[in-house]
Amino acid sequence: MRVLLLGGTGNVGSRLLSALIQREHTVFAFVRDPSKLAPGVQDKLAGISIGDAKKAADIKAAVTQNRCDAIVNTAGLAAMAPWGKSDLPDIVEAVTTAALEAGQERGSPLRVWYLGGQSILDIPTKKCMIMD
Ligand SMILES: NC(=O)c1ccc[n+]([C@@H]2O[C@H](COP(=O)([O-])OP(=O)(O)OC[C@H]3O[C@@H](n4cnc5c(N)ncnc54)[C@H](OP(=O)(O)O)[C@@H]3O)[C@@H](O)[C@H]2O)c1
Repeated sequence: MRVLLLGGTGNVGSRLLSALIQREHTVFAFVRDPSKLAPGVQDKLAGISIGDAKKAADIKAAVTQNRCDAIVNTAGLAAMAPWGKSDLPDIVEAVTTAALEAGQERGSPLRVWYLGGQSILDIPTKKCMIMD
């Protein structure tokens, strides 16, 4: 499967990136800073897109340019109030918008997997409900 992975420079994403490559998926990393990818990983990737996970247009461009079938999001931290504000809702919204638009344009839906811990269940977005 052609997979766009967001958050590949993070704790979970870097491990998932290696696991996807080991399982012979074609993996494209979506990162803010490619120099933060683990040493040796860049050579094993099918491509790297630079962008902001809060911008649907950046994600959609990466999906369509690389003809991805799936998006895995590990970007963003699911900090729960009152300890901190999470940017995960904005990231989930952007990923969902990008997946819906790219799926409509290519005529078949993409698979999307979100990682965010239990608090992701509280993200209020109608689009996520449509995805269900
Ligand atoms: N670690 C755990 O044990 C654990 C357990 C359960 C659930 N989770 C959930 O898994 C997710 C990832 O956790 P983690 O521990 O891997 O976090 P992390 O190490 O802080 O990694 C976060 C990743 O998100 C990227 N990111 C953040 N904002 C971005 C943006 N606007 N655009 C593009 N990339 C962005 C970061 O990129 P930069 O390198 O550029 O900052 C980094 O690659 C979180 O939602 C967390 O709640 C984690």
